[in-house]
Amino acid sequence: AFKPLVFSGVQPTGNLHLGNYLGAIKRFVEMQAHHDCIYCVVDQHAITVWQNPADLKKQIREVTAAFLAAGIDPKAHVVFNQSQVPEHAELAWVFNCVARMGWLNRMTQFKEKAGKDRENASVGLFAYPTLMAADILVYRATMVPVGEDQKQHLELARDIAQKFNNDFRDSVAAAGFDPDEGFFPLPEPLTQGPAPRVMSLRDGTKKMSKSDPSDYSRINLTDDQDTIAQKVRKARTDSEPLPSEVAGLSGRADADNLVTIYAALAGTTREAVLAEFGGAQFSAFKPALADLAVAVLAPINRHMRELMDDPAHIDAVLADGSERAGAIAAKVMDDVKDIVGF
Ligand code: ADP
Ligand code: NA
Repeated sequence: AFKPLVFSGVQPTGNLHLGNYLGAIKRFVEMQAHHDCIYCVVDQHAITVWQNPADLKKQIREVTAAFLAAGIDPKAHVVFNQSQVPEHAELAWVFNCVARMGWLNRMTQFKEKAGKDRENASVGLFAYPTLMAADILVYRATMVPVGEDQKQHLELARDIAQKFNNDFRDSVAAAGFDPDEGFFPLPEPLTQGPAPRVMSLRDGTKKMSKSDPSDYSRINLTDDQDTIAQKVRKARTDSEPLPSEVAGLSGRADADNLVTIYAALAGTTREAVLAEFGGAQFSAFKPALADLAVAVLAPINRHMRELMDDPAHIDAVLADGSERAGAIAAKVMDDVKDIVGF
C-alpha cells in the first residue's frame, strides 16, 4: 500500500491575502498534525505567465515566510520550492507523453486563463496540469488539498497515473512493483470540510483576489494593523443591521462576506457569529471584526516581516527542504526511468 502523504502547492504570483490564508494556508497548518506533508512553492507554475524576475524571487520568499509565520513546521515536514528539484520537470516530460491532447483540451482553467487569445498563451500554461501531476506523483503522494478550481486538474493527475500504470504494466512488475496496485497511487482530494470563500471587501459578489486593482478589496498578509483596521472600516456594506439567522444574509453578499470572515477568523460558524451580533449595526460589528482580524493576523504579519528581513534564513530553509524533497523524488525518478526503458 502507498504511504499516506499530502502534497500542497502555492504559486508565488503576488500579494498573499486573507483569502489565501483562510482558504489554504490555515488549512495547511491544521493538517500537519495528522499527516506527513510536503509544502511546495510552485515557482515553475508561476512562469506559465510572464513574471518580473526580481518580483518572483521576492514572492518565493514571501510565500515561504507566510508558511513559516502561519505555523508550518519545516523540520517535521518539507517546505521547498519546485525549481530546486529538477525531477518535477523531468517527470512532467514523461507525463506530457502519457497525457492526451484531448484531456488537456478539456481543462477549463486553461480556457479561462488563456482567454480569447489562445494562440498567444504559453505552451507551459497549456501543459500546466501535467506539471501539477508530476508535482504530486514525483513523491507518490496520495492526498492533495484542492479548492474547487483545482479539482479538474487533480482528476487529470489520477488519469495520468492510471494510464502510466496501465501502459507500463509489465515493466512496473519487472521493476518489482505490484502491477495491480500500479507504480503511482491515484491521488485523492484531501477534504477538511468546506473551505471559506472569502470575497472582495469592495464587492461581496467577487472573490477576494490578488489581481483586483483595488487594494481596499483585500487584506494582504503583509498589511500592518492600521491598514487592516482601515480596510475593514471601508469595507462595503448595506444599511441594515445584521440579521440573527443565516437565512437573513441571503441577497446581502457584503454582509454575508464580513460574517463569513469573522466566523473563519474566530474558528466558529456564521450561526454563532449571528447569535452574538444579530441586530447589531455595522458601526458596532466592524470594529469587532477589525480587532479580531488584527489579533489573528498581526502575529503572522510580524513574524513574516522578521523572516523577510533575513532572506538568508528563508533560503536556508528552502535549500534544506529541497534537499529532502529531492532525495525522495530522485528515487522515484530512478524507478520511472527504469520502468519507461531509459
Ligand atoms: P491559484 O491560481 O493557484 O489558485 P491563488 O493565489 O489564486 O492561486 O490561490 C492560492 C490558494 O488560495 C488556493 O488554494 C486558492 O483556492 C486559495 N484562495 C485564493 N483566493 C481565495 C479566496 N478569495 N477565498 C478562499 N480561498 C482562496
Ligand atoms: Na485561484
